[in-house]
Amino acid sequence: MIEVKPILNLRGAEVSYGSRMVVRGVDLSLSPGEIYALLGPNGAGKSTLVQAICGRLKLTGGKVSLDDKDPWSTPSCRRLLGLVPQEIALYDHMTVRENLEVFGRLSGVKGPALQAAVSTAMGLTRVVDREHVPIRHLSGGYQRRVNIAAAILHQPRLLILDEPTVGVDLDAREAVDAVIRDLRDTGVAVLIVTHDLEQADGLADRVGFLREGKKVMEGPPRTLIKEAFGEDMEILVQLSEEAGVDDEALMLSAGLQRRGRTQLWSMLDAGGYATAGRIDSLLRQAGLAPREIRVREPSLQNLFSLVADWRRAA
Ligand SMILES: Nc1ncnc2c1ncn2[C@@H]1O[C@H](COP(=O)(O)OP(=O)(O)OP(=O)(O)O)[C@@H](O)[C@H]1O
Ligand SMILES: [Mg+2]
Repeated sequence: MIEVKPILNLRGAEVSYGSRMVVRGVDLSLSPGEIYALLGPNGAGKSTLVQAICGRLKLTGGKVSLDDKDPWSTPSCRRLLGLVPQEIALYDHMTVRENLEVFGRLSGVKGPALQAAVSTAMGLTRVVDREHVPIRHLSGGYQRRVNIAAAILHQPRLLILDEPTVGVDLDAREAVDAVIRDLRDTGVAVLIVTHDLEQADGLADRVGFLREGKKVMEGPPRTLIKEAFGEDMEILVQLSEEAGVDDEALMLSAGLQRRGRTQLWSMLDAGGYATAGRIDSLLRQAGLAPREIRVREPSLQNLFSLVADWRRAA
């Protein structure tokens, strides 16, 4: 295999706000053609790290380099990256093409190259059929994709997306994911910050968990899940009615745990379908009819809970 040189490198990166260190010694490297999802609870330091990578914030310790250059002290290397903001940052009344022409000029693309860049970006983000439609008349999914198009006009080699699909419906998210994969396939390195673990699972070549400013786990999602849970399967039980106190005790004694405030319970067990069958009869004997019992491979959600539990244990 040919070694691909990383486009992004962080070594022992630290950021403090006053006396408070919120990014604490993070190493991270990202190569062309790779999608990396940065995960972690609120306040973990994800956006701060992104700001430092973009050269908008100075590291208080360690190193960040974009193609071997420091984005803080050598601003010209910031041309290598494109940042997709969380909010739609487009001119509402202007068409898709008009918007992209404005953003292209802002990122230094001019003359005949501009028209070509706009067409390429529209093609990659699959918005060509809305070229002459004002942004305000577009669906959320199209707006998200134009938002990405605006960030790739200068052909960045690293694309960073901070929460690109918050509040977006499933169809729109899948369309955005498809665009991100296409960009990856053209050799762009993609760093995506997301709370959406299902999205990260389906999209990322590698994920990294940030917790209290430190990277606590990193790797390909399926590998991490396999390492953490081995042969265990996740068993999900959906109750059709509110569990009473006795029912709750029964669920807990069977090894099930409630997911949030819902009537969805889950457990990890190597017994898989056999365990699911045993739980089904146990619940029925107690007069608790489950609406649904599912058996599936553990997910990033399970891993995330595990990492969050470490915090409580620490
Ligand atoms: N400008 C600032 N000045 C002081 N503290 C800040 C500043 N920006 C962020 N923080 C603090 O730094 C910590 C990390 O914040 P950051 O926004 O990087 O987290 P995050 O992982 O992006 O969270 P979220 O998932 O909520 O977006 C938080 O405790 C936050 O309150
Ligand atoms: Mg954030």
